[in-house]
Amino acid sequence: MKSVKDTLLQRRSIRRYEREAIAAEDMLLIYEAIRNTPTSYNGQQFSVIDVTDQTLKEQLYELTQQKQIKTCNHFLVFCADFNKVRKIATHKGIEMPDFEHTADGVIVGIIDASLAMMSALVAAESCGLGTCCIGYTRTAAPKAIAELLKLPKCVFIVCGLAIGVPREKPDLKPKQSEKLLIHSNCYRTDDFTQELVDYDNEIINFNATRSGMKSDNDWVSHIVDYYWQAMNYEMLEALKNSGYDIIK
Ligand SMILES: Cc1cc2nc3c(=O)[nH]c(=O)nc-3n(C[C@H](O)[C@H](O)[C@H](O)COP(=O)(O)O)c2cc1C
Repeated sequence: MKSVKDTLLQRRSIRRYEREAIAAEDMLLIYEAIRNTPTSYNGQQFSVIDVTDQTLKEQLYELTQQKQIKTCNHFLVFCADFNKVRKIATHKGIEMPDFEHTADGVIVGIIDASLAMMSALVAAESCGLGTCCIGYTRTAAPKAIAELLKLPKCVFIVCGLAIGVPREKPDLKPKQSEKLLIHSNCYRTDDFTQELVDYDNEIINFNATRSGMKSDNDWVSHIVDYYWQAMNYEMLEALKNSGYDIIK
């Protein structure tokens, strides 16, 4: 098993996998790590769909165009889930407010599901496995994917996680400096534009010289392009269809 330091600092997204199956004991650790995720109120407002069926993985690939989904060994879909609490509250005759219809309810579900995904990611990486988060699982075709995975009302996809034996080792991407990411005691009040420009240049240089596919992309235009694409996502509608009708 890798050290915590290597697990966290040598992690990079892996998009090509061997056909090899993940060892049962590694999957067990990943499941246990998911189960022990800290959650809001200990409400465990999340569920995970472990997709291993190849036909299903290929259907998900068709809908998302993310090859990792069909080539990875386990594709875990992390969902915000109020279905379970609502079910037992109804069973016990406890009146439950429409918490899932509030912005905070949605945020709670997203935080819980995201932390569970990070638990799984760290556990998998510590076993030497490769991982890649796949946000298109949420955005590409919300209705079709919810139907495919038979999601009941109040279960909403937050993100997918591909896991498999790595078949590549891409260069580690440079990240923003500690000073840009971690503010000491309060948000920085000085002008850090130049530091952002320096980081943008670092990414331009990385993209031009990295091993594998090179490009002349900078950092910020590339990210802003993604934001433009994301402006077309109908997430509010998707949330509503999943039983999260935000009213406050
Ligand atoms: C929430 C989330 C969603 C992501 N969605 C995708 C995706 O749909 N497809 C993909 O190839 N990578 C996806 N990624 C991976 C990011 O592109 C990757 O983490 C980022 O480029 C940094 O690279 P690194 O993980 O190698 O450090 C996603 C990552 C996160 C955290």
